[in-house]
Amino acid sequence: MKNTEKGHVVLVTGGSSGIGAATVKLLSEAGFTVYAASRSGRLPEGCQAGPTLLPLVMDVNDEAAVRSGVERIVSEQGRIDAVVCNAGNGIAGPVEETSVAEMHAQFETTFFGVARTIRACAPFFRAQGSGRVITVSSVAAVAPLPFQAFYSAAKAGILQLTKALSIEMRTFGVQCCCILPGDVKTGFTAARRIAAAAQDPASPYREMTVRSLAQMEKDEQREGMAPPVIASAVLRQLRRKKMRPECVPGALYAFLVPVIRLLPERLVLRVIGKMYL
Ligand SMILES: NC(=O)c1ccc[n+]([C@@H]2O[C@H](COP(=O)([O-])OP(=O)(O)OC[C@H]3O[C@@H](n4cnc5c(N)ncnc54)[C@H](OP(=O)(O)O)[C@@H]3O)[C@@H](O)[C@H]2O)c1
Repeated sequence: MKNTEKGHVVLVTGGSSGIGAATVKLLSEAGFTVYAASRSGRLPEGCQAGPTLLPLVMDVNDEAAVRSGVERIVSEQGRIDAVVCNAGNGIAGPVEETSVAEMHAQFETTFFGVARTIRACAPFFRAQGSGRVITVSSVAAVAPLPFQAFYSAAKAGILQLTKALSIEMRTFGVQCCCILPGDVKTGFTAARRIAAAAQDPASPYREMTVRSLAQMEKDEQREGMAPPVIASAVLRQLRRKKMRPECVPGALYAFLVPVIRLLPERLVLRVIGKMYL
């Protein structure tokens, strides 16, 4: 299968800020025709709309909006070559104190939003006999984060979804790659919601929740990678003749993820606990 080339049409969800915005900018500079989708429909700062860079209002929680967004791309460009399923959010809190509505909200955007976007693109990829699906999961898919259990579960779901999809669609010329970023400095930290019950000062988890959230915020905002690191990984995969099933950007995380998979699980969970509690 051909690698995705200059002029090819790419949809990036969550393209208005952070990792998605950096991806939109980089792919656009590299010569792709990019649709930057988000609820706000804003283009990344410093970008101008034009024939090869187009904003798209598309809430990934809304089935009809996703279908019509993808149909619009195909009717305007005659094709869609790749999709970067990046839109996501974070809802933190102990498992016991996260309501079913909050669990649903976490999965609605971060897991089902990805699945909806893929399903909307799949018939076009199949008809073309080519297509590339890049999903943005997280290192949390491999190293579960306490007090972000539903986020970690949604990201683990994306990883398996992407790999299973790559087997199902290979015969139709479709390739898939799941990107697993570690900490990245974006607006994700400020946008993270905390489960309502976890905010009660009487919560038995209160101290642990506050401590682990403070650690996560520090890791993301002080130590986090710059979004272009993840965008470059996306571009590299699009340029490869054969995409990797999984890609971990950044040398430290690229080293850590295979090590985590090799170590005894009890040890891994103990170390993660020590890092956050
Ligand atoms: N930051 C990190 O440390 C980190 C680490 C690993 C993985 N990730 C993953 O990377 C992805 C991007 O996150 P980020 O860090 O770049 O966060 P961000 O700066 O908060 O960006 C999130 C993007 O998603 C869009 N979005 C949110 N809900 C949406 C919806 N329902 N429909 C369509 N678009 C929606 C937002 O735009 P609107 O508000 O305009 O809709 C925004 O463009 C997420 O999947 C996140 O889980 C982040």
